[in-house]
Formats: sequence, C-alpha cells, structure tokens
Amino acid sequence: MISLSLLEISYLIASVTFIFGLKSMGNPKTARNGNLIGAAGMGIAILATILLHDGEVKPIIYVLIAAAIGIGTIAGWITARKVAMTKMPELVSLFNGMGGACAALISLIEYPHLSSETGSLLAVTAGLVIGTVSFSGSMIAFAKLNGSLSKAIRIPSYNIINTILMIVIVGMISLMMISDDYNNDINLYILLGLSVLYGILFVIPIGGADMPVVISLLNSFTGLAAAFGGFLYGNKAMLTGGILVGSAGTLLTIVMCKAMNRSLSSVIFGAFGGGGASLESTSKSGGTIKDIQVADLAVLMNYSKKVIIVPGYGLAVAQAQHVIHEIELILESRGVEVKYAIHPVAGRMPGHMNVLLAESSVDYSKLSEMEEINPEFASTDVVLVVGANDVVNPAAKNDPSSPIFGMPILDVEAAQHIIVNKRSMNAGYAGIDNELFYNPKNSMLFGDAKSVLTALATELKNL
Ligand code: TAP
Repeated sequence: MISLSLLEISYLIASVTFIFGLKSMGNPKTARNGNLIGAAGMGIAILATILLHDGEVKPIIYVLIAAAIGIGTIAGWITARKVAMTKMPELVSLFNGMGGACAALISLIEYPHLSSETGSLLAVTAGLVIGTVSFSGSMIAFAKLNGSLSKAIRIPSYNIINTILMIVIVGMISLMMISDDYNNDINLYILLGLSVLYGILFVIPIGGADMPVVISLLNSFTGLAAAFGGFLYGNKAMLTGGILVGSAGTLLTIVMCKAMNRSLSSVIFGAFGGGGASLESTSKSGGTIKDIQVADLAVLMNYSKKVIIVPGYGLAVAQAQHVIHEIELILESRGVEVKYAIHPVAGRMPGHMNVLLAESSVDYSKLSEMEEINPEFASTDVVLVVGANDVVNPAAKNDPSSPIFGMPILDVEAAQHIIVNKRSMNAGYAGIDNELFYNPKNSMLFGDAKSVLTALATELKNL
C-alpha cells in the first residue's frame, strides 16, 4: 500500500488546485475564482514546505521567511491594485522576471552543495541558464514597455552572436558534466554572465509592440526553470506548477502567433512591430476619406436595428470602456440590438478587450468571438470601430505583400455603415495603412475615444 506523508498530500492538493485554477482561467466568468483557487493552492504548498519540512531549522530562518513573505505580499498587493489596465503587460513582465531570478538563485545556492550526480547538475545549470535568460529578457521587455528603452535596437549580426553564445553555454554545461571539477564556482558565474547577455540580446532587437508574444515565451521559460528547481528538490508542487506555467506559456505564444498569422521566428527576428508608425510613412492608398460628426452618428445609431462595436487598443488607451457601455445601454433602451466583436489579438495582451469590457460590467453574453460574429456583419446597420486598426484591415485578405496578409480579421466591410473612431490617420501596431478608411461605406470619427464617445452619449440622450 502507498503511504503518503502530510507534506506529499499537501503538494498533491496544491497541484490539483493549480490545474483546476488554470482550467477555470480559460473562461472570463470563472477566471477570478480560478486565480483565487490557484493562489490558495500556492499558499498550501508554501505553508506545508515551511511547517512540514524534514530536519532542523534555526528559528531565525523562520523569521527571515516570514519577513520575505511579508515584503513580497505587500509589494505585490500594492502594485497589482494600483496598476492601470494598459500597464498590465509590463507588470506581467516584471513579475515574470522575478520568477526567473528566483529559479536562478536556487541554482546558485544549491550548486556548492551538489553531489556528483549528473541529473542534479543538469537541473542546476539548466535552471540557472533558463531562469537568468528569463530574468534579463523580462527586464529588457519591461524597460521597453515602460518607455525607458523605446525602440527595437538593431545590433548587427545579433542572430549569429546569439547562436554562438548558446553554443558556448551548452558546451560549458556539457564540459561541467564530464569534468571532475564540477563544483568550481567560477564555471557557474561565467554561465550566469553568458545567460544574462543572452537574455538581453534575445529581447533587445524585438519591436516594442511585439513584446506580449515575447513575454509569454519568457513566461514559459520561467515555468521551465522552476520545474528544474522542483526536480532538484524533489518538490512535486514546484514541479507541477513549473510544468503548467511552461506549457501554458508555450501554448499561449503559439495561439498568439497563429491569431496574427505570424511565425514565432518572425516575431523574434523582428519583421515588424516598432510600435506606432506615422502618417507620412503609411498613407499610401491615396484614396479619399470622409468624416462624420457626433450628432449625425447619434441619429444614425439611434434609428438602427443592429449595431456592432469593435473595440481595439485605442479603447484601452483612452480608457473609454465605461462610456462605450453607457452608449450600449442607451441604444438598447431604444430597441437597438448591440453586440461587441472581439478579435483574438485586439489590444496588446491576450483577452485585453474582454478584461477591459468586464471592468465596465459589460454583460459577457454580449461579447462575440470573431468566427461567431463575422457572418453577422452583413445584417448589421452600423459597425462602430473604436481604437481598432489592424484587426479590421482588409489588407490581411487582399494584399499578399502586406505584413499582416493571412491574419484573420473582422469582416466589418460587410456592414451597411462603418464608423472608425481614432485620433488621426496614423497606423496601428503593424505600422501599415488601412484601406478600410477609404471604403465609400466608411466614415471617420476623429478624436480621443473617451471624449468623442462621451459627446456621442450626450447626443444620444438628447434624442
Ligand atoms: P492597433 O492596430 O494597434 O490600432 C490601435 C489604434 O488605436 C491606432 O491606430 C490608434 O490610432 C488608435 N488609438 C490610440 N489611442 C487612441 C485614443 N485615445 N482614442 C482613439 N483611438 C486611439 O490595434 P488593434 O486593432 O487592437 O490591433 C492589435 C494589434 O496588436 C494587432 O496588430 C496585433 O497583432 C498586435 N498584437 C496584439 C497582441 C495581443 S495578444 N492582443 C500581442 C502583440 C501584438 P490613432 O493614433 O490615430 O489614434
């Protein structure tokens, strides 16, 4: 009969909660609970490790652990509460970097105590390299997202430099495995330095706006590094948690690339995504555009049967989620059917629009995924595109030379009237012109989304 210690049972419970929590996060309705369930599981794992650990522990260690947990909890709590939705990717990047650093520190601490066992040495060196790459890469991503490092920095032949670096790292690990001198600290510190450099060179050439994909990839690296730590300590909860983060991060990276119809290599080697091109560089269609005034739009929408709202990155920038919800409610009170069309990569992070609209209490049943809503545009009177650009760009279907060619888009062109709200004719994330703006059915509603939509809500109320 298998007998499990209380510690192992706690780890089993924690692992189950991680899996259950992750599954719940797949749906906006259950995501919040999923997060809490996963956090509770992590709490159980931490407490069990501290209280049920084998061997003598000096009282001062408990004091230090309590102080570290206290500082971490307060810092994490305050940061997460204060962060604006648009700053979420950089917060994720920062937290992810801390995870990578933890995994690397475990390796640095455990290395001098290693026996000559190859498995443990591999776990330590792999944890160090992957954790450090994730840490330094995430810090660069963080700096780019908060504007301290603004552009994709092109280093000549950085791909060759990176490949050589990786070969040296793998070579060093192999040598350490076969050498008797495996406990030489110098080797580990050289490995640490090379990994820091690799992480920086890996992320620095990537366009700022491509960062969500890279952050997700780095996130999977952190999971993998933590899993190596779990392997080293024989800690099942750490192993399961690490594997889950690693695989979820990898899947998310693949899903994002697929939704953008781009290969991971084109993201990493920076095909586009410098983050905001200017009018001069993009207006090449040469067509004519027409604009619409708020008062006219209010009348048009008020007498429509069906309106679809397409939210994009600009809605998040303007923080116009509350006013768009207000417009939705006014229109519904006038008998207009209102829906939101959600493109999988609208915004700058997975589920960005869902989270944003949930913040303003938009009913989840009003949100339709792209495949579901596309056939409905043909029977729609007005499509209101708010701060979205690439996700409605017909070049994705019509122009094989376009960098977004092949990306599935929302078929807004099929609607009777298209209204696009943005501040200027500037390009979106992909830095390309949008022929939708020149479509005879399209009218531009220029201005910051929040101010323009607030004016629209007022006009609608007055009708
Ligand atoms: P974008 O193509 O980036 O367009 C956003 C538009 O919002 C801009 O053209 C901008 O035009 C407008 N805007 C900015 N601030 C505004 C404000 N205050 N009021 C009104 N409009 C404002 O956004 P999208 O259509 O949501 O597409 C997302 C893009 O990001 C895709 O290319 C996608 O591949 C990429 N991406 C997404 C993700 C994820 S996971 N979501 C990850 C990486 C990359 P003006 O400057 O003229 O106002």
